[in-house]
Amino acid sequence: MSSRITNISAMEILDSRGNPTVRVFMELEDGTFVRSSVPSGASTGEYEACELRDGDKSRYGGKGVLRAVENVNNVIAPALFGMDVTEQLKIDQTLLELDGTTNKDKLGANAILGVSMAAVKAAAASHRLEIYEYLGGSQACRIPVPCMNILNGGEHADNSVDIQEFMAVPAGAPTFKEGLRYVSETFHTLKKLLKERGLATSVGDEGGFAPNLGSNEEAIEIIIEAIEKSGYKPGVDISIALDSAATSFVVGKKGKYDLKWSGGGVKTTDEMIEMAKEWVKKYPIILWEDPLAEEDWEGFKKFTKELGDKIEVVGDDIFVTNTKFIQKGIKEHTANASLIKLNQIGTVSETVDAVKLCFEHNWRAFVSHRSGETCDTFLADFTVAMGTGHLKTGSASRSERLAKYNRLLEIEARLGDRAKYYWR
Ligand code: PGA
Ligand code: ZN
Repeated sequence: MSSRITNISAMEILDSRGNPTVRVFMELEDGTFVRSSVPSGASTGEYEACELRDGDKSRYGGKGVLRAVENVNNVIAPALFGMDVTEQLKIDQTLLELDGTTNKDKLGANAILGVSMAAVKAAAASHRLEIYEYLGGSQACRIPVPCMNILNGGEHADNSVDIQEFMAVPAGAPTFKEGLRYVSETFHTLKKLLKERGLATSVGDEGGFAPNLGSNEEAIEIIIEAIEKSGYKPGVDISIALDSAATSFVVGKKGKYDLKWSGGGVKTTDEMIEMAKEWVKKYPIILWEDPLAEEDWEGFKKFTKELGDKIEVVGDDIFVTNTKFIQKGIKEHTANASLIKLNQIGTVSETVDAVKLCFEHNWRAFVSHRSGETCDTFLADFTVAMGTGHLKTGSASRSERLAKYNRLLEIEARLGDRAKYYWR
C-alpha cells in the first residue's frame, strides 16, 4: 500500500482559552486519514518561531489564524502532494524551504507544525503503528514522570502569585499510573485545604488552582501540606518543581525582577539566586525552570553554578527549543536541561534534534505542553518516543491536560512489563 500524501487541508478551531488555532487534516493514498491541532503559549520567549495571526481586529481581536490556514491549503498542500509520508525529514525540510525565513514568519509555525505532526501521525497510522512506536522504535518504553502543575500564578492566572507554575512531581512512584494517582490525590487535597482557608479553588489556564496567597512561599508550603495530608512523603514520594517564567516579570533588560503580582518588590538577579538557594535548602525542590529571564544568560549561568548539582535547571524562554541557543547554553553551562516545546521551533524534526542535542551533552530534555492547548495527544507519544523521562502537561483538571495524561496511561498499559518509570 502506498503511503503517499493525497490531501492536506486546514481549518481554524479554538484552543483551551477560546483563541483560534490551526487544525490540519492529512490523507494518504491508502486511505489513512489523520488530524493534528497546534497549541499556543502565553508567556512566550522572544525568539520562538512565529505564530502567525491575522491581526484583523474585527475577528477574535486580531487573533484569527485564517492566513496560516490558507498557507496550509494553498502553499503547503500543493508542495507536499504525492510525497512519501514516511520521509519526515524531507517533508520538514520542504516546509522550511517553502517558508524560507529563520523564524517561520512567512507561513507561520502554526501552519508548519500542524502539517509536520500530521505527517508523523499519518505515517504511523499507515504502518498500523502507535505514534510512539513509529517515532521511537522498540526502544520507546520509558513513560515520563508527570510534573503536575497544581498551582498557577504569573501570566497563567489572575492572582497574587508571581511564580507561574508549582508542580507536584511523583518521582518516587513505582509506575506512571501510580505517580499520576499520587499527584491527582494531592491536587484534590490541595483543593480541600484551600477551601478550608476560604481561598479560591477556581483554576488557571493549565488547570492548577489560582488562589490569592500572601507570598510565593506560601504556595510551596500549602502544597507540601497537601502532599503530607494525602499520605505521601515530600521529597521522597513527591517532590516539587517550579517554573518562574521570570521573563514575564523582568523589568527592562537590566537583570531586575519585579515581583509585581505578590507585591514582593524589585529584586536583582543575585537576590533572586539567593532566594532560590534558600528555598532549595528548605523545600524538596527537584527542578526549577526559567528562574531568570531569557536575556539573563549570565544570571542563568550563576544560578546553575550554585544549584545545578542539586536540581535540574531548565531553560525555556532562553532556549526556545532551538539548537542554536541550546548549543550556546551547553557551551556556557547556562543550565543543565532544556524545555522542549514543539511549537517553539515548529517542526517535529527540529524538535527531535533539540532533544538529541541535550542527550548528547548529558542534559535533560523536559517536554512541555502550552498554556493554550487542544485535546491532541501527540505530545504524550512524542515524549515516550524520545524517552525524556519527564513531561509537564498541566493539572488534574481541564480535559485538554488530562487527554495527554490519559494517553500516557494507555501507552503504559500497552507496554505492560516493558514499561519503565524512573526520574533519572
Ligand atoms: P506558555 O507557558 O505555554 O504560556 O508559554 C508554559 C511555560 O512557560 O512553560
Ligand atoms: Zn516555562
